Amino acid sequence: MKAVEISTPGGPEVLKLVERPMPEPKAGEVLIKVSAAGINRPDVFQRKGAYPPPPGASDLPGLEVAGEIVGGDTGDTGLAVGDKVCALLAGGGYAEYCTAPAAQCLPVPAGLSDVEAAALPETYFTVWSNVFDRGQLTEGETLLVHGGASGIGTTAIQLATALGHKVYATAGSDERAKAVEGLGAVQGINYRSQDFVEEIKKATDGRGVDVILDMVAGEYINRDLSCLADDGRIVIIALLGGAKATIDCSQLMRRRLTVTGSTLRPRPVQFKQQIARALQARVWPLLEAGRIRPIIHATFPLSQAADAHAMMDAGEQVGKIVLTA
Ligand SMILES: NC(=O)c1ccc[n+]([C@@H]2O[C@H](COP(=O)([O-])OP(=O)(O)OC[C@H]3O[C@@H](n4cnc5c(N)ncnc54)[C@H](OP(=O)(O)O)[C@@H]3O)[C@@H](O)[C@H]2O)c1
Repeated sequence: MKAVEISTPGGPEVLKLVERPMPEPKAGEVLIKVSAAGINRPDVFQRKGAYPPPPGASDLPGLEVAGEIVGGDTGDTGLAVGDKVCALLAGGGYAEYCTAPAAQCLPVPAGLSDVEAAALPETYFTVWSNVFDRGQLTEGETLLVHGGASGIGTTAIQLATALGHKVYATAGSDERAKAVEGLGAVQGINYRSQDFVEEIKKATDGRGVDVILDMVAGEYINRDLSCLADDGRIVIIALLGGAKATIDCSQLMRRRLTVTGSTLRPRPVQFKQQIARALQARVWPLLEAGRIRPIIHATFPLSQAADAHAMMDAGEQVGKIVLTA
């Protein structure tokens, strides 16, 4: 089969189209003929040599695909050979075929194209797990999303808005701040020209937000604490602004605040299966009713994965970039 491998750590040009043996599904795994594969920021970190695949995972990049089940073991998932699915992977999506645990497959939502379906798993699993499970965003609560125009950010805004929450989001330009408002955010904040702490305080009459989804961390943590409501939760999913911060722990005690975080990729199949089932019950109906739809910024054929990564590196996309096999 054709696949795109990381020939050596480096820039987009290290992504090379190569011939690879077909992957062989193990027990509990299906073989998928890939029609589209989503690109995520972690693929870029992996390309640069900064995010190695977990033990046992394919060395090929690619954390999500859509396609057709053509073999393997569907177990008791109710899926069958011939079904169109999208799947969360621990790697191996940039290829004509990949394997995935059957438990991490979901049907392609009715009305969505394969390209749109391929853009779902990584951000939907991540957002569900961090905003709703870990962050416990509950009825009537408000959410602040940093990096609102990112793949993760656009998903968080759409999903939380569709579930009835007021969402605020930061982005790096006026244009991107406007784009996040187009997705449902009640206010897009250009973090380069506005102070998000002041903006959130103003918008919430000084109360602050209940949950913050933070992909920046570093010095953002203190600013997050300043615009978090009592009993609020910060959920860290990336360290784009650095791993370290000094915080005033007395605030955590006085105002009962929580700082937490997680990474999805190394978690066991059973954990991801629980998220898959929650998504199918709570979120797939919203997708099938057209209430939310993944934001596709651009598509590239698999053979042009390097161009797609160059676009990721430029960082001007709103939503997702997807490869087609
Ligand atoms: N923990 C997990 O399980 C998990 C799972 C998936 C992804 N992630 C992480 O989540 C992040 C987003 O992933 P993605 O695929 O959605 O990436 P993406 O589309 O490339 O987005 C990255 C975003 O980060 C924003 N950003 C960068 N530096 C910033 C700063 N200093 N302040 C505010 N925003 C900043 C950028 O927004 P502007 O251009 O508007 O500034 C950009 O939209 C990545 O770091 C990824 O590794 C974590």
